[in-house]
Amino acid sequence: MLQAIRVPVKELQRCSGIVAEDVVSNDKALLLPRGSNLALLDDRAINILKGKLISEGVEYINIYLHNNSDASLITSIQDENDYQSVPPYRQIDKSLAEMALYQINDIYNRIAKGEALSELYEPLLNTARVLTQEILESEAITLSLYKVKERDEYTFVHSLNVSLLSGFLAGKLLKGDSVTEKIVIGGLLHDVGKTRIPLEILNKPCPLTAEEFAVMKGHPLLGFGILREARITDETILNVTLFHHERMDGKGYPKGLTGKDIPVEARIVAVADVFDAVTTNRVYRSGVSLYNAISLIIKDTGKHFDPKVSRELVSALGLYPPGTIVELSDGNIAVVIACNEGDLFRPTVKLMGSWAEVTSGNGRDGKVVNLRNTPNLYIKKAVGNFSK
Ligand SMILES: [Fe+2]
Repeated sequence: MLQAIRVPVKELQRCSGIVAEDVVSNDKALLLPRGSNLALLDDRAINILKGKLISEGVEYINIYLHNNSDASLITSIQDENDYQSVPPYRQIDKSLAEMALYQINDIYNRIAKGEALSELYEPLLNTARVLTQEILESEAITLSLYKVKERDEYTFVHSLNVSLLSGFLAGKLLKGDSVTEKIVIGGLLHDVGKTRIPLEILNKPCPLTAEEFAVMKGHPLLGFGILREARITDETILNVTLFHHERMDGKGYPKGLTGKDIPVEARIVAVADVFDAVTTNRVYRSGVSLYNAISLIIKDTGKHFDPKVSRELVSALGLYPPGTIVELSDGNIAVVIACNEGDLFRPTVKLMGSWAEVTSGNGRDGKVVNLRNTPNLYIKKAVGNFSK
């Protein structure tokens, strides 16, 4: 079971992970919010953070350590008997994830051999139903994704990750478990058309030529055909498979649909698909950092991605994209108007007044504050979103 480790602040350089509990100063100002991802901070930022925490008298923080943390750090802490457990992030049940992977593997292989999908569909449906319940009860999805990524069968692991992340986003954005369940199934099956793409193109260990890419672009339509042959008629599942490469600006494929003409389920899966793809190591390139992946999603929001969906993803990662309404450490409410590159926890905000003023409709159109320049003013938590 994943456990948070109590790490000395002076050792922060040697570890990477998610902050497990809010770190507060003696006078209760929030210094570092729960859910902050230390992997996003470079050495300079970690040094600044260390200095800040030490100056506020903080000696230890609880962290869910990533695997790439210095192993001797864990040993030395445990040797000193200087650790404590705190409730772990909920994770997708490991045997359930394994079963889903097995089923996706089996389905994709059998389709590649020309077998019918219909009798394989029912067990997958049952798995998706249980996965959906797990996802809807999860507060944080990212660690589940990393855990599953330890395996290396790219297409199947990618399909499961896209399914988990899409289900998580759908649970936040859409009402109703049944639509989320369909999106989970759609995520599992979204690339099923790749079973009809020649292996030399699918597994090519370098970028594709224009001709090869044109063949690859056929996979949504091929997948749609496979699902129809298997008598799958559910529109949500079919839409995910057919439209997950459409873009908001109409430059996607296969149909070049724009904006809201793209079904919302496909807009959700599009974000999950790209986010998982760019953060995963492939044969010909290593995955980009989480920070760069988020930057890429933010940069392409509006052009490629639906702003509501990408905002939900970034929020789920514990960050504050533009449009987020936040409560500051001094109790005032503000709206995020711009991200600061290199420090997504300290964006530029516009002050709106106290909670009472805002909720009574008397919020102010206040001054703009760059939180990067205000060491004593922090975001305490996100309280809403202008897009909802
Ligand atoms: Fe795809």
